[in-house]
Amino acid sequence: MRHVLVIGAGGGLGKALVAHYLNEGALVTAWSRREQPFMHENLQWRTLSDYSPEQLHAEIEQLQALDGVISTLGMLHNNDFMPEKHLGAVSAAQLRHSFEINAILPILLLEQLLPKLPRKQPAFWVQLSAKVGSITDNYLGGWYSYRASKAALNMLLKTASIELRRSHKQLIIAAVHPGTTDTELSAPFQERLPADKLYTPEQSAARIAQVIENLTTEHSGKLLHWDGTELPY
Ligand SMILES: NC(=O)c1ccc[n+]([C@@H]2O[C@H](COP(=O)([O-])OP(=O)(O)OC[C@H]3O[C@@H](n4cnc5c(N)ncnc54)[C@H](OP(=O)(O)O)[C@@H]3O)[C@@H](O)[C@H]2O)c1
Repeated sequence: MRHVLVIGAGGGLGKALVAHYLNEGALVTAWSRREQPFMHENLQWRTLSDYSPEQLHAEIEQLQALDGVISTLGMLHNNDFMPEKHLGAVSAAQLRHSFEINAILPILLLEQLLPKLPRKQPAFWVQLSAKVGSITDNYLGGWYSYRASKAALNMLLKTASIELRRSHKQLIIAAVHPGTTDTELSAPFQERLPADKLYTPEQSAARIAQVIENLTTEHSGKLLHWDGTELPY
């Protein structure tokens, strides 16, 4: 049975991805700071206080070997911060927090979980990223912290993919843009969106899973759109 770890499993896309992989017959380990939302015989839900290396050490020790990991960790806004509309709104605190959640946590997770990923068999490491983290594709400006932290994430993943190509020949490391999906993260920004440009978490989870099914080692280090095409960095 395929074993998939979903990190950030309590969020909109995380929950939908857990359900998707359970429906596909996989064994799913789910990490979240939230309580288990539903029961399933193939679901191992672990509620964590945070994603710090100290907290994860014991979790990782007892984890069975993995075939793939999907991390949905990401932050666009919270009670303290909204995406910056102009330079005057940029603050060190928001930049730091965004980098912490969007770039630093994901790469530390990859570092810590690597021993649980096979060296010689096919496996995937997918982190949800965002098209707005593409430097080439930035025509609108704004959203300084989110854009910059996702761009940093993409660079960190690309760098890891180059190194790990040698030790983990069939491990594919990819950043995937899920498309604008109806979750807490996008909720404040949905008003002006045409209805056909806002996807349900279930739709997006199925598309992300499809991208994963089609991954080859050629995709490692890339930023991929939910339709499977490559996005520029
Ligand atoms: N929704 C969209 O339109 C959209 C578009 C482009 C990219 N994305 C990306 O897709 C991913 C999933 O987003 P979503 O829409 O499902 O958002 P969400 O519902 O807010 O989920 C984000 C997840 O990140 C974790 N997280 C958030 N803040 C955190 C913090 N301060 N400390 C630790 N963990 C934190 C949470 O994990 P737990 O609460 O489970 O612990 C949460 O499940 C994100 O990386 C986002 O950038 C989303």
